[in-house]
Amino acid sequence: MKQKDPQSESLLRISRSPALRGTVSVPGDKSISHRALLFGALADGPVEISGLGLGGDNVSTMAALRALGVPIAQAGTDVRVHGVGLAGLQEPSAALDCGNSGTSMRLFCGLLAGRPFTSNLTGDYSLSRRPMARVATPLRLMGADIDGRTDAAHPLDMFPPLTVRGRALQGIEYELPVASAQLKSALILAGLQAHGRTVISEPGLSRDHSERMLSFLGAPVSAEPEQRRVVVDPAGWNGRLRAGPVSVPGDLSSAAFLLVAALIVPESDVTVENVGLNPTRTGVLDALLAMGADLQVKVTGQVMGEPVGTVRARWSGKRLRAITVAGDLALRAIDEIPALAVAAAMAKGTSDFSDLRELRVKESDRIACITRELQRAGLTVRDAPSGFSVTGSGGRPSQGGHVQPDGDHRIAMAGAILGLVAVEPTLVPSEHIETSFPSFAQLLRVLGAQVD
Ligand code: S3P
Repeated sequence: MKQKDPQSESLLRISRSPALRGTVSVPGDKSISHRALLFGALADGPVEISGLGLGGDNVSTMAALRALGVPIAQAGTDVRVHGVGLAGLQEPSAALDCGNSGTSMRLFCGLLAGRPFTSNLTGDYSLSRRPMARVATPLRLMGADIDGRTDAAHPLDMFPPLTVRGRALQGIEYELPVASAQLKSALILAGLQAHGRTVISEPGLSRDHSERMLSFLGAPVSAEPEQRRVVVDPAGWNGRLRAGPVSVPGDLSSAAFLLVAALIVPESDVTVENVGLNPTRTGVLDALLAMGADLQVKVTGQVMGEPVGTVRARWSGKRLRAITVAGDLALRAIDEIPALAVAAAMAKGTSDFSDLRELRVKESDRIACITRELQRAGLTVRDAPSGFSVTGSGGRPSQGGHVQPDGDHRIAMAGAILGLVAVEPTLVPSEHIETSFPSFAQLLRVLGAQVD
């Protein structure tokens, strides 16, 4: 829960860049990597994962699984998880540290709620401030025993550290108050251990990697995406998933920063290969296309039920126009709003972003951070409870300065790419970028960006 000393931070120095050019791959998808590790642990034997994301969040999931008695061997991005099945998980001897990762904490809540032992879950300064009643409430309805830290300023909520005392669980029918893949996945994991059926519905369709991967691995999970509903029916299931090779595609959420950089830096032409193109995640591409971006998107195949392909982005600065991001599009671009905000900052006209209240409780208050950082760069921005609007410069360079990411990897990366078109240098604290995209600065340099 300690806050970093701002004097000791490591900084990237970004200067106005010449054209970005080249073809790159980005590290493995963070959401899919969490699931490959966690579901691999429940398999019937060894699961060979290739292309695993090795950002801090995925490393937290890996460490927590090891602490639960799951053997994991790693050689770079090739990882072998020796599945022990649900019944093989063991009581951890110390708290499971989820670091900065909300996905790890919420998925482990669902997994551990039905195991016959007690687990403590902790996190860093940012994660310790993220709301957990949203996961504890439905799990308690299933019979779970979960406690957390209370905070007088938010009397109805609960925060890490959490204690999960495993209990026998009952299936439920539950409507999530917010569309959330983390909550949905936690309830699926609890539902797999419960007596009876669990039916989860959500107000919009959040990313569906859990449903796709679990079905692929033989779990009794069926998705009804049109109804935004998932049914888990474990009757007759032996509690183990099929072992086999798992390949993780590149992370579109990471690629988004390189693609937006290519769209705004004059004369750029960047291709990202082998990137995940699951339709619950491609809102960022739809939004950029609607802005007039020169993007070519090609689906080249399927991996474990996930579409994968190539995206090429070429400088579109002069023709980028404002956009409205709301509703389903906002949900399908939820993690890419910081990158989209940079594209909007360089477009012609005023873009409106709304239906984004969830951004207030991500790794930082992203609405506040985006507003502050775009204002620092000289743009006109107005914030609202569930979004913001930004009047783009129409391609005119922004101002440099010192980005304050509030410990949020995506705010740091958004600040960095805006720095590529700023007249003065931009300083970006880089430590937290490692959460999802450790090779961000290196790939920017490979493409020709001025990053010191
Ligand atoms: C994630 C789900 C999303 C997303 C997060 C990763 C996941 O959050 O913002 O970065 O891997 O399940 P929600 O739970 O709000 O959908």
